[in-house]
Amino acid sequence: MSMLQVKDLNAWYGRSHVLQGVSLDVGQGEAVCMIGRNGAGKTTTLRTIMGLVARHTGEVLFQGEDILNEPIHHRFTLGLAYVPEERRIVPGLTVQENLRLGLVASQNRNREAEVIDGIAETFPRLRERLGQTADTLSGGEQQMLAIARAMVSEPRFIMLDEPSEGIMPILVDEMFELFTRMKAKGTTILLVEQNVARALEVADRAYVMDQGLIIHSGNAKDLLGDKEIQERYCAV
Ligand SMILES: Nc1ncnc2c1ncn2[C@@H]1O[C@H](COP(=O)(O)OP(=O)(O)OP(=O)(O)O)[C@@H](O)[C@H]1O
Ligand SMILES: [Mg+2]
Repeated sequence: MSMLQVKDLNAWYGRSHVLQGVSLDVGQGEAVCMIGRNGAGKTTTLRTIMGLVARHTGEVLFQGEDILNEPIHHRFTLGLAYVPEERRIVPGLTVQENLRLGLVASQNRNREAEVIDGIAETFPRLRERLGQTADTLSGGEQQMLAIARAMVSEPRFIMLDEPSEGIMPILVDEMFELFTRMKAKGTTILLVEQNVARALEVADRAYVMDQGLIIHSGNAKDLLGDKEIQERYCAV
């Protein structure tokens, strides 16, 4: 069953027609990755799905409901979460306070202690740093915090935009292990990544974007073997 269906999505920044009819589908429990060159429109696709791009046309169905013109908070309530490219953690707040912020709009807010314990177990690095202010975390730890904050609401569906960017390999390993565990627990994932090999390892399927269009889609394993497409459309 489809969890997310995007149909003929168009989006504009000013006069620039950035998405030119993007259609994609993410099944319940699937991990799907989206790859493509810089400027292809990957971030804009996630932002439009999340309701952050003002000018758009098309359809975004979440569990069958058209959410494209719904207010953002309604999307959160439905179980959608988004971890943007720029990690929007609050630098002056502690790790614990940042996690608490993720709970504010969530139905889990009455279970704070339990939820934060669970998150601390999933992210041992954060457990050791719950009282530390977020700006004193390393870049990789900040990214983990941004992901953890999205997860406190236990989303059914999470979109992540280049989570491994600028992060040291050992943390990238941890992060991809986390995605595998999230998927095993039933979370549906839409992942934008430049780290194509790693992304294709965790993903079931992949979409390749170029110039505002999906130009290829298929099984992640097949794409992993398709060096031609990777070289043409995924080089940074
Ligand atoms: N706020 C904005 N205002 C105007 N143009 C924008 C804005 N954000 C993005 N664009 C343009 O839209 C196009 C798509 O950008 P987008 O950020 O979606 O690409 P991307 O595939 O995520 O690239 P990257 O891999 O570099 O993150 C680019 O040409 C970009 O310059
Ligand atoms: Mg981007």
